[in-house]
Amino acid sequence: MDIQSIKKQFEEDLSKAVSKDDLVGLKVKYLGKKSEIYSALRSLGDLNPDERRAQGAELNRLRTEIESAIKDRGGELSSGEKGVKVDFTEPGKKFELGHKHPITQIYEELFEIGKSLGFSIAEGPEIEADWYSFEALNIPKDHPARDFADTFYISEEVNLRPHTSNTQIRYMERHKPPIRIIAYGRTYRKDSDVTHTPMFHQLEGLLVDDRVTFSDLKGVLTTFAQGIFGKDRKVRFRPHHFPFTEPSVEIDVSCGLCGGKGCRSCKYSGWLEILGAGMVHPNVLKNSGIDSKKYQGFAFGIGIERIAMLKYETDDLRLFFDNDLRFLEQF
Ligand code: PHE
Repeated sequence: MDIQSIKKQFEEDLSKAVSKDDLVGLKVKYLGKKSEIYSALRSLGDLNPDERRAQGAELNRLRTEIESAIKDRGGELSSGEKGVKVDFTEPGKKFELGHKHPITQIYEELFEIGKSLGFSIAEGPEIEADWYSFEALNIPKDHPARDFADTFYISEEVNLRPHTSNTQIRYMERHKPPIRIIAYGRTYRKDSDVTHTPMFHQLEGLLVDDRVTFSDLKGVLTTFAQGIFGKDRKVRFRPHHFPFTEPSVEIDVSCGLCGGKGCRSCKYSGWLEILGAGMVHPNVLKNSGIDSKKYQGFAFGIGIERIAMLKYETDDLRLFFDNDLRFLEQF
């Protein structure tokens, strides 16, 4: 057997190897059971002891050389240095970046407007006592206004809050005026259709101080409304009723699609309702331990999903909670 010619042949074969499969082939050809080296090793026993020792050592050296040459070449192939072509002009893979849920985005916009007006942020519980959800808000048990929310009850005295107004009472109990807060969080009502989900989000504002007037309410809420929808939108205050405010208003912005002329989106009225508000009822101040002779205030409540629907012009509110990325990725 001619070791030199095997070596030469191997080197030539190796230089042509461009894939892992080629290397496997080389391993079989030079080190496998049918290889020349293998059969030479097997027939060492036919030789005399001196020849056997010399030939054995040489064959083993050749075998180790081939093995490590194949291994080195494998390393080169997987690091892409030789053989594998890399096209550096190909566009890279896009790195997908997540983003905030549209509801969170609306909240953050409202927080920014609130902070710019000196409001700080407060929170209240979602599982609430009757006193905070209704009673202290001037909605006694037999008051027809309790119909306004088909409330989820845990027991007669405990419910899932139907609005964030519970936080007004909780905050006033613990703080003296001046008070200037926005509260936020999940609220619950037994409603389910294209514009209502049983769980939804609200933002509540409360300002209490001496000498607070209805024109303060108008100024602050115009800033909120135009902050969300744009300075070019008109704001309108319409008389309304809430048991916990007196007088009460609903606030509309002019329709962005028709500019107030009337279209399908605004039901041909030119206006879109965006929130409820009013001057805090003296009974509510009293129930929270605040002297209603000395202090006045105003409060407002905004439905976040409603704002999101108007702002993003979606006609099905439930989409915000389906977690379908094809929808969410648009924001
Ligand atoms: N709590 C009222 C609602 O959920 C909104 C509101 C809050 C109205 C504060 C006036 C003052 O509809």
